[in-house]
Amino acid sequence: MQSLERRQTIIVLDFGSQYSRLITRRVRECLVYSELVPASTTLAELQANPHLDIKGFILSGGPASVYDEQAPSCDPAILHSGLPILGICYGMQLLAQQLGGHVAPASGRREYGPATLTVRFDPTADPQFYRIFEDISASPAQTDQLNQPRTDPDLRLPVWMSHGDSVDRLPEGFKVLACSESNPVAAIANTQGIIGLQFHPEVTHTPQGKDILRNFLYRVCGCDGNWTPQSVIEETVEQIRQRVGPERVICGLSGGVDSAVAALLVHRAIGDQLTCIFVDTGLLRAGEAEQVVETFTRHLHIPLVAVDARQRFLARLQDVIDPEQKRKIIGEEFIRVFEEEATRLEEKGGLIPFLAQGTLYPDVIESSSHDTASTAVRIKTHHNVGGLPEEMKLKLVEPLRMLFKDEVREIGLALGLPEDWVWRHPFPGPGLAIRIIGAVDEARLETLRAADAIVIDEIRRAGVYRELGQAFAVLTPVQSVGVMGDDRTYANLVAIRAVTSGDFMTADWARLSPELLARISHRIVNEVPGINRVVYDITSKPPATIEWE
Ligand code: XMP
Repeated sequence: MQSLERRQTIIVLDFGSQYSRLITRRVRECLVYSELVPASTTLAELQANPHLDIKGFILSGGPASVYDEQAPSCDPAILHSGLPILGICYGMQLLAQQLGGHVAPASGRREYGPATLTVRFDPTADPQFYRIFEDISASPAQTDQLNQPRTDPDLRLPVWMSHGDSVDRLPEGFKVLACSESNPVAAIANTQGIIGLQFHPEVTHTPQGKDILRNFLYRVCGCDGNWTPQSVIEETVEQIRQRVGPERVICGLSGGVDSAVAALLVHRAIGDQLTCIFVDTGLLRAGEAEQVVETFTRHLHIPLVAVDARQRFLARLQDVIDPEQKRKIIGEEFIRVFEEEATRLEEKGGLIPFLAQGTLYPDVIESSSHDTASTAVRIKTHHNVGGLPEEMKLKLVEPLRMLFKDEVREIGLALGLPEDWVWRHPFPGPGLAIRIIGAVDEARLETLRAADAIVIDEIRRAGVYRELGQAFAVLTPVQSVGVMGDDRTYANLVAIRAVTSGDFMTADWARLSPELLARISHRIVNEVPGINRVVYDITSKPPATIEWE
């Protein structure tokens, strides 16, 4: 296992590209730890962190032009540190310019989208120049598609471009490795491991991109590849032990994957010094509350207090129609119940100074970034429903702070969390209350839970659950006429929402097959009393949101 004190790290400097976060994720997928930091971060600041064993830097792309007056630049000490550097797009132009080269608006047309990269290996040159393309090859299908004669010694690859500038004079010691149709300088390098790529290796539209990144990490930076789920678990467990010592910790379980994995890690570290609290609001999906209790107590043997607060929530939600009001009430009531339970636990077993939470790395980056968009701010406030107030004066334990969602899932699996829990779609804090348009009561909750369970069941049977970001039913107050057998019905409308999404800031409606939609509709109308019509939501986000409320 790698040392607890110093972890091999690739630092990604964020120049504002939409792909910056993705670069960090890709590096971690190659089993090397990576952190995304603002472009202005200095070498001295990074070296002051005793936990980082910096093996190299990646300068991300970005929307600016390096010759703009306000263009962000990189601490020159990084460029002269002697450590390997990979500049991508803007990052390449920046390092070229800062090291004495020159960048100008592209003389040919601007290049956006797919392009062909041609790598010209110079047999007389030092092979050190070409480490980034070592052992990279095109598939026969790609070669055919790019109309490349089989005898052509150059390497041609499909890549993804997005830039308007190009390097027209190289810094000293650099060599052009590759060109594209409209750019004679598409990849550059020196022999010390400073490399620039005009294309984006981090996106899947560059099929060999991950191999190219891997070359940078392993052949240029000399990384060992020790960022594995097992090493993350061992390291995190040790950190939790050091932070918590002999004290007690509480953790609120929501039924989602983040809080469950946080609890599992804390339990592995300190055993029964941890107590989990699960508040059954009555607003969860069918079977979920039972699964939380069953899995945590019977399978995982983690101390759990389940609070049946269903009546309290229902009473407070009675006749409330406004969704914002619902969110507020649920948030407040959740905190009240949680605090009462925590107090009870302290009265029984002594002080509990720590609270474990499942905060993820994207939340950490978002709250530390300077240019958070106003929409992101709004989305964050509504995500706080189900959070706990600072006045609780609990010290936080956040074992997932440095992890992306996919890493959390892998760790969950490694720690024994059931698969269907690990892959469960996200669920909003206020739960089914915001998926019932209008007032919430037990009868409506039961109707929605039954319809929702059919949606999920059919989607799972069709084998498409994992492809979807979210899928659920919404109960509307719209009533319409129908016929069932010989009877006329007058009943409610259920809407089905299914989306594909990367980060839930944008989403597209899922192209579910007509057969699947037919099965869902047929079953809901036949099996759920009070529903006689089903519609499918075909709106993307934006302009709609994912939830209806
Ligand atoms: P919208 O509806 O704004 O939702 O497109 C984006 C994502 O956020 C989830 N969501 C919430 N999650 N507490 C949460 O933890 C909330 O109050 C909340 N409201 C919406 C929603 O399910 C989707 O994944």
